[in-house]
Amino acid sequence: MSYSLLIRGASQIVTVSGRAPRRGKALSDIGVLRGGAVLLRDGVISAVGPAAKIEKLKESKSAEVLDLAGRVLLPGFVDSHTHLIHAASRAEEYELKIQGAGYEEIARKGGGILKSVGKLRAASVQDLKSRARTFLDRFAEHGTTSIEAKSGYGLDVTSELRILSLHKELDAEQPLEIVSTFLGAHVVPAEYRNKANGTRAYMQLLEQELIPEVAENGLAEYCDVFCERSAFSIAESRQVLLAGKKHGLRPRVHAEQLSNTGATRLGIKLGAASCDHLEYLKPTDIRALAKSKTTATLLPGCDFHLGLKQYAPARQLIDEGAIVALATDFNPGTSPTLSMPMVLSLACTQLRMTPAEAVTAATLNAAYSLGRHKRIGSIEAGKQADLAVFEVADYREIPYYFGVNTCWLTMKRGQVVHMRD
Ligand code: NIG
Ligand code: FE
Repeated sequence: MSYSLLIRGASQIVTVSGRAPRRGKALSDIGVLRGGAVLLRDGVISAVGPAAKIEKLKESKSAEVLDLAGRVLLPGFVDSHTHLIHAASRAEEYELKIQGAGYEEIARKGGGILKSVGKLRAASVQDLKSRARTFLDRFAEHGTTSIEAKSGYGLDVTSELRILSLHKELDAEQPLEIVSTFLGAHVVPAEYRNKANGTRAYMQLLEQELIPEVAENGLAEYCDVFCERSAFSIAESRQVLLAGKKHGLRPRVHAEQLSNTGATRLGIKLGAASCDHLEYLKPTDIRALAKSKTTATLLPGCDFHLGLKQYAPARQLIDEGAIVALATDFNPGTSPTLSMPMVLSLACTQLRMTPAEAVTAATLNAAYSLGRHKRIGSIEAGKQADLAVFEVADYREIPYYFGVNTCWLTMKRGQVVHMRD
């Protein structure tokens, strides 16, 4: 027996329907439908359009009805950059940063990524898993229905494989979809730092052991590198990303976050799915992104959390025609938020994106960057019923009420995964 659900009574259905990816002015075409309805069958959207038309369909007569009483319906958010699995917060560094210490300075003094690596290695799988499950529930509470998740706090064979296996298990055991990325090249781990040729030895481990093993066991779709003066150089990043490609892992890059390294041009050249951060882009990088199929994923939560003034040049990226997406970068060091509504608020006030552009960047374009735009990212017949309902009368109120979670209901493949009582 199939199960049908008719959703009606929304003040707005923001469909984001049509071609993906969106560039330039097309980011604003979010297809706001007033007086509309959506029909779902077995977790898939079977029809969307004016309520009068949808309600006349034979299948609607026998469907269960969900009345949204004037709320706003959106495609579920696609959070295309997270570091889901980590063992603890770094709240102690938050205070140091407020007192003026820099992110890289804290890392040099034994904090930063390596601090998280030490804690993850010492944690049990059960603890990591239950912590991640709590976070996944929280993602759903904020309207997110799919996430990308990176390894990178393990940095040895056992711990990296443990993280990636958890991505796989969690993807299978709970409703939110998890797209897995291998980030063994986050930084060089401590045990390789004081050795002669330590970086080279760690790169060998990545290329000869970890990447082949990850690919062979289907533990990741993407391979990422933190290309930065305090992490991996351009030449090292190229080597790691090429090794990933050789094994079928498509590149993603942490690029130009704290300085301009040329990582964006490298990413484009290697056909990266996405270059992320981009605070220190040069005008030539912006033009190159605009001409490419590589998504520019902006993570304003990092700059907000670190108290940095230099946000990514979103306006120029959009105006030049780049594919712009937004994500939380949920992680304990630079962006401890899993709220896409908060990211939308930051995108509007700090990146000067309009609410409509921000919605497209957080749904359809993010889905494109994960190679899933044919299945998720918009409300269209044939797509998965991944939906989020907000307790507002106008979609612009979602970013407008900054720091307030207005998400009322979240559905993944037609199944309710969050409902506010
Ligand atoms: O995306 N930049 C590198 N990785 C993370 C931060 C990791 C950390 O500080 O723990 C990021 O910002
Ligand atoms: Fe990141």
